[in-house]
Amino acid sequence: MLTGKKIVLGITGSIAAYKAAYLCRALIKKGAEVQTVITPAGKEFITPVTLSALTHKPVVSDFFSANDGTWHSHVDLGLWADAMLIAPATASSIGKMVNGIADNMLITAYLSMKAPVFVAPAMDLDMYAHPSTQHNLDRLKSFGNHIIEPATGYLASSLEGKGRMEEPDAIVRALEDFFARNEQLSKKKIIITAGPTYEKIDPVRYISNYSSGKMGFALAEECALRGAEVILISGPVQLDVIHPNIRRINVESAEEMYRAALKYFPATDVGILCAAVADYRPLLYSENKLKRKNGESVVLELTPNPDIAAALGTIKKPGQRLIGFALETDNERMHAEEKLRKKNLDFIVLNSLNDTGAGFRGDTNKITILDTHGNVKEFPLRTKKEVAKDIIDETIN
Ligand code: CTP
Repeated sequence: MLTGKKIVLGITGSIAAYKAAYLCRALIKKGAEVQTVITPAGKEFITPVTLSALTHKPVVSDFFSANDGTWHSHVDLGLWADAMLIAPATASSIGKMVNGIADNMLITAYLSMKAPVFVAPAMDLDMYAHPSTQHNLDRLKSFGNHIIEPATGYLASSLEGKGRMEEPDAIVRALEDFFARNEQLSKKKIIITAGPTYEKIDPVRYISNYSSGKMGFALAEECALRGAEVILISGPVQLDVIHPNIRRINVESAEEMYRAALKYFPATDVGILCAAVADYRPLLYSENKLKRKNGESVVLELTPNPDIAAALGTIKKPGQRLIGFALETDNERMHAEEKLRKKNLDFIVLNSLNDTGAGFRGDTNKITILDTHGNVKEFPLRTKKEVAKDIIDETIN
């Protein structure tokens, strides 16, 4: 249901604009309040009278009202809405959204929007497949906008069916799913560690590992999408966060990560320890670059780093949950169970480097979840985004 949800429906000049009438009806049937905003080209395809009759609200299309010259405030629309849905969205409007070309009411409303934005593209396949359109859709995604497209055809790699606007019922379902998810973790605070740590040897060298941070970032994104407030403590990675509910704290060494985790964990509901923390750091840091000694081997003495998971496990209070990861190469279950117990975790996510597609750097992962009651759940190979969903589902259970 979408009871009481305020939706700004933006309609642009596509042949699919007639479907906006079905969309209005379907949204209202689910309990939503709909305010339509239409571009000048949109009006060529559907009449404002149809839309205002369906929504019981005047259609907004011009900056000023024709009869009395009242100014239509796009800023007010941006504050009023719980979501903005642009359906159909033409290649041209998508391009304007990406570049901030605010020459009509719909684009100004988009630029002032405080609520999540959903975009249902509608164009022919050639326009859709053009690098310009694909680039613009990627840009919209990077702004945190949600693109609603029909699922690809029978060939996963084919573009067949893409470009066509998704059916109104499926669009409404996407909105319902979004709001349902959005409330699952509302008022929850979650701390996540992610990425590798760098342990300095001298000003130009460090010890680290292959962690990309992708799993931790996918988890942060998933928690934020479900309404949680996320503190993401990240080691050095090449990733960006886009969700406004994620506060990112950048650290470099295990000790910095440890201090940040100890500071923020007490006020949170859940801790997810996804970072590949270096277990050791050089005992001595050299202020000057170490010079090569011809022909001689060198010995680097290492000293243990604090175990963040174990430290949080000791201060964990009733009601708080702690989730750890284990990346193993041998005796996987045994090692994972041992870590679960030793670090006082609620469950541990195991991935084995022996499984193809699991572990570092890639976009996929294959996990097994072990909990303190001896339950073992195996999951198939999935993208890290999907794996993040599985892990968060398990956290909520
Ligand atoms: N972890 C941590 N701080 C450390 C080491 C590990 O918080 N200094 C966390 C990881 O984020 C992970 C879990 O502990 O959630 C297990 O990490 P892993 O490196 O597999 O375990 P270790 O205890 O370091 O054991 P080993 O390296 O010997 O396998």
